[in-house]
Amino acid sequence: MKRIIELIEDKMKNSFKEAGYDETYGTVNISNRPDLCQYQCNGAMAAAKSYHKAPIMIANDVTALLKDNVVFEKVEAVNPGFINITLAPKFLADYIDDMRKSDKYGLEPCGDVKKIIVDYGGPNVAKPLHVGHLRAAIIGESVKRIARYVGHDVIGDVHLGDWGLQIGLIITELEKRSPELPYFDENYTGEYPAEPPFTMSELEEIYPCASAYSKENPEYLARAQQATADFQNGKRGYIALWKHIIDVSIPDIKKNYDKLNVSFDLWKKESDVKGYIPDMVEMMKEKGYAYESDGAIVVDVKEESDTKEIPPCILLKSNGATNYGTTDLATIIERIRLFNADRIIYVVDKRQSLHFEQVFRCARKTGLVNDDTDLVFVGFGTMNGKDGKPFKTRDGGVLRLETLIAEIGDAVYDRIMENRNMDEHEAREIAAKIGLSALKYGDLSNQASKDYVFDVDRFISFEGNTGPYILYVIVRIKSVLAKYKEMGGDIKKSMKILPAAGKSETDIYLCLSKFQDCIMSAYKDNAPHKICQYIYELSNAFNSFYHDNKILSEENEERKESFLALLMLVKDILEQCIDLLGFEAPEKM
Ligand code: ARG
Repeated sequence: MKRIIELIEDKMKNSFKEAGYDETYGTVNISNRPDLCQYQCNGAMAAAKSYHKAPIMIANDVTALLKDNVVFEKVEAVNPGFINITLAPKFLADYIDDMRKSDKYGLEPCGDVKKIIVDYGGPNVAKPLHVGHLRAAIIGESVKRIARYVGHDVIGDVHLGDWGLQIGLIITELEKRSPELPYFDENYTGEYPAEPPFTMSELEEIYPCASAYSKENPEYLARAQQATADFQNGKRGYIALWKHIIDVSIPDIKKNYDKLNVSFDLWKKESDVKGYIPDMVEMMKEKGYAYESDGAIVVDVKEESDTKEIPPCILLKSNGATNYGTTDLATIIERIRLFNADRIIYVVDKRQSLHFEQVFRCARKTGLVNDDTDLVFVGFGTMNGKDGKPFKTRDGGVLRLETLIAEIGDAVYDRIMENRNMDEHEAREIAAKIGLSALKYGDLSNQASKDYVFDVDRFISFEGNTGPYILYVIVRIKSVLAKYKEMGGDIKKSMKILPAAGKSETDIYLCLSKFQDCIMSAYKDNAPHKICQYIYELSNAFNSFYHDNKILSEENEERKESFLALLMLVKDILEQCIDLLGFEAPEKM
């Protein structure tokens, strides 16, 4: 379906033309004075200069041609030359009725289907998922779902970190603790044990311990760096250990993502692209981009217009180990080769923006991607505690994701049980759904690039701009529809949306009619917060409407059916939107 604003604009442009003015002046906007009108056109003001005429005269010429038009109830020229627009109730109601019957509520199919890869997640094996990974997962999942809904061919990739220093640190620490293991015996030629020499909880203790120790002890750090280079160069025993680390970590990582309702199409690891690295470095050297500097192999990526220092991209360190950027570049090669990606979107902490600037520049400069390939960095801000500092546990440690999810679930559970008696199991299930909505909406309702304060009490509230508030509206509608069925009604029978009879009904129609604009703008800007804004507005509009009207006791049967059709549409659109945000509504709450 055409966007409603386009339909309005078509009429407006036509009249500008018919009245003898250039049609480009007929641009229409949503009114910034909703008390006066719904849409407005300010084109007469701009046209006045070119036509040496008073703007009000132009506005009058244009509106005179729109008097008897099915689209408008009122088109008014007001001083000094604005055109105020109010839609005809029937036109608006028919538009909503058409949305109801159309696929995806009238969202235009996207003609040019793009292959899009969303790189979000980025957990590192051997380290538990912590709150630092939360935003990537929540935002990335939503960005992926939105692009897919718009009609693109989208792949979500977890891009596990398994090729860096953390592996060297674990190897070094393990050797310190258990030097007798065969992995450290240079002369060992047999098969290595199938059982890993550690459990996940042991790994979770080993890594932070090694990392902390390396910060105080340069000799230990040097050993870990050497171990990293050795395993990257294929040292047998270390490769065997690295495989154990991956096998032990992945199930734990998956379990955490499941709890978040986040899933990936690809479980690629940084190491999967190691095979591309030698040729890539060779190519960059041959073409004269890469050169040696202090023993390392680097590519300059600074540009004349830079106002800040952009350091070169380091492909190989002096000990031969690859860098974070090296695997990111090789991953671009793979994503182009295997998937022919048109766009790669990276949802990563914004503190990594310099890294991505270097990688993107290097990829373009050296021809890994051509001009048509978009490389997009969606950098997100930090999740802070109420003290305004990065979120920590009460004792100052890094908070595990699992713990955070459980804490929210418990808080919601307590709230549900406060003044009600519900089956324990059922209450837990409902609490998990509401908790996830609180967590995700609390995050997604902020523009991704901004820091935000994580405030459990506010996020789980059933009132205000929160996930549970949105769920509450959906559940409320579900209960009205259920009651209608109980009374013998059939929600499947054909119904028609009638022209709005009151203000709150008109408001909700207007809001519904903007669904397509909301989705497209969230897609173009990779901005789930726009969907949050939209459903908050829609939920508020619904609550006013619900307050003003009796639904099931409405006596006029056609009106009642129109109300019910409207309720179903609001529910479906809200449910569609929260699905794009990555959560769902319970049956009751
Ligand atoms: N593993 C990285 C980290 O924990 C994030 C990876 C993000 N994605 C990427 N392609 N670099 O910081």
